Amino acid sequence: MFIERKFPNTRLRRLRRNTNLIDLVSETNLSSNDLIQPIFIKENFDGTEPIDSMPNIFRHGIDNAIKEIEDIKKSGINSIAVFPVIDSINKDSKGSQAVDANNFISNSINTIKKQFPDIILIADVALDPYTDHGHDGVIINDQVDNDETIKILIDQSLILASAGADMIAPSDMMDGRIGLIRKALEDNNYKDTILLSYAAKYNSKFYGPFRDAVGSSSNLGKSSKSSYQMSLKNKEEALHEVAMDINEGADIVMIKPAMPYLDIIHAIKENFKIPTFAYQVSGEYSMLKLAINEGWLDSDVMLESLISIKRAGADAILSYAAKEISKEMQNI
Ligand code: PBG
Repeated sequence: MFIERKFPNTRLRRLRRNTNLIDLVSETNLSSNDLIQPIFIKENFDGTEPIDSMPNIFRHGIDNAIKEIEDIKKSGINSIAVFPVIDSINKDSKGSQAVDANNFISNSINTIKKQFPDIILIADVALDPYTDHGHDGVIINDQVDNDETIKILIDQSLILASAGADMIAPSDMMDGRIGLIRKALEDNNYKDTILLSYAAKYNSKFYGPFRDAVGSSSNLGKSSKSSYQMSLKNKEEALHEVAMDINEGADIVMIKPAMPYLDIIHAIKENFKIPTFAYQVSGEYSMLKLAINEGWLDSDVMLESLISIKRAGADAILSYAAKEISKEMQNI
């Protein structure tokens, strides 16, 4: 619809006279409810250690993870995504630990849910923390095998659901896994387990620091995930991926990375109008945080990045800066 806008009837600066006015007419508002904090929990480890390529982010032993989650809750955030850092002696070519019902991550989830029954806990489904080659699936004839991988991911999902994860988040990008995992959850009476699908996950170099954090980068070496993660040149394919995952039973879809893929977030929210999350990944975080720590960028760029992701259409955002931004927003 064409509306005639003419100066001086229209002076857009009238509504920018002070911050109260600016806030009153703001179209996008970010709150602690929109933020999810990822957290790295390390096997066979006590205490807390820094991650070189992720300023201000740490690997925690389970005891310290509990303290960290207390602090996350204090910041006003109620959702976390847990990522295991598995001892390299426990990794193998099949990622066997992923399907051991008594494994490190399920014990950790158990412990966390006992302490914090209300926290919304998201658990990743993929084999890369557990494989000695760093891929998300099993390799057969030099290829990450789709269907054999799904069989393992189903067992991994059931274990995570039984440990108490509220959301199961397949990040592996195998075709058809959402449908088969959904069926297994239903068959085993996990009717309320939420499937958060990493539906449009791009083959991005922005994951580098995460792979350092979980110790999969040296295992992966020069090998690429391009045979399962999406080509960064494609947008319509993302809609195709999302349509498939919704049909197969995803409750929420996720786009990843976030800031270089705002057009994808926007297109998916516009087209499907279902809960849509975005993951501001490790490389996005580290880039901004390093520049902030060096004094090259004002610290408000972090909030700006999150608001841009929300404005694009994300309902919630996984971000390593979640706790810090939430504290800032609540003046803690
Ligand atoms: C594993 C997984 C990755 C991330 C989340 N789950 C890495 C990858 O696909 O290589 C990346 C998160 C980040 O960079 O912060 N399947």
